[in-house]
Amino acid sequence: MDIIDYYNWRYATKKFNPNKKIPNTDLELIKESIRLAPTSYGLQLFKVIIIENQVQKDELRKFSYNQSQISDASHLFIFCNSTKVFEKDIDVYIQNKSISQEMPVEENKGYGDFLKKTLLNKDSEKTSVWTKNQTYIALTHLMTACASLKIDSCPIEGFNTTLYNEFLDINKKSLSAGVVAAVGYRSESDNSQYYKKVRKSTKDIFEIH
Ligand SMILES: Cc1cc2nc3c(=O)[nH]c(=O)nc-3n(C[C@H](O)[C@H](O)[C@H](O)COP(=O)(O)O)c2cc1C
Repeated sequence: MDIIDYYNWRYATKKFNPNKKIPNTDLELIKESIRLAPTSYGLQLFKVIIIENQVQKDELRKFSYNQSQISDASHLFIFCNSTKVFEKDIDVYIQNKSISQEMPVEENKGYGDFLKKTLLNKDSEKTSVWTKNQTYIALTHLMTACASLKIDSCPIEGFNTTLYNEFLDINKKSLSAGVVAAVGYRSESDNSQYYKKVRKSTKDIFEIH
């Protein structure tokens, strides 16, 4: 299969088979696809909370307009974006860059200072919009990786952020739940899998100048 086959195969799964769980080897590949997603300045200002515990999934369904994907998927990936940039985030990045690229940390100091000057005083609303946007890139990495593994997924924005944040107790970590991916295997009785894709035509989307 090529990449376009994967995109045609995947669909926003409405009904998961609650009895089929993702093997650990595939979970690791999905996690790696998220880890490798690009982010602004490479700072990766998010955490992904993975829920496999059934009691917790059932609880979260109550805060997600009762969508069955939340309780029936094998795993929930909750993308939580940072609501504030800390000096430590930049120091950790500079340290990591220096080690990964085998260069003295002093050589990256100027870049670190530039990032601090640019990001530390950004207001919290702007910071949240900026970091949340980046979680969607990681989300698409997840969905493509899943499709390549014949694993189904459903991106979900239909949930109550405040209740998720309270449930996950993440406000104190300056994180906020932005978007969720329910991941697992489609139920045979999910009619959505048989629907034709609804998309605009190429000509309606692109302009060549
Ligand atoms: C950011 C985002 C949020 C979404 N939220 C939900 C959701 O809460 N519940 C749901 O059933 N589908 C949700 N969807 C799925 C879309 O409705 C679906 O992707 C779209 O209709 C196209 O269909 P397809 O993905 O099956 O090709 C969401 C999709 C995206 C990209």
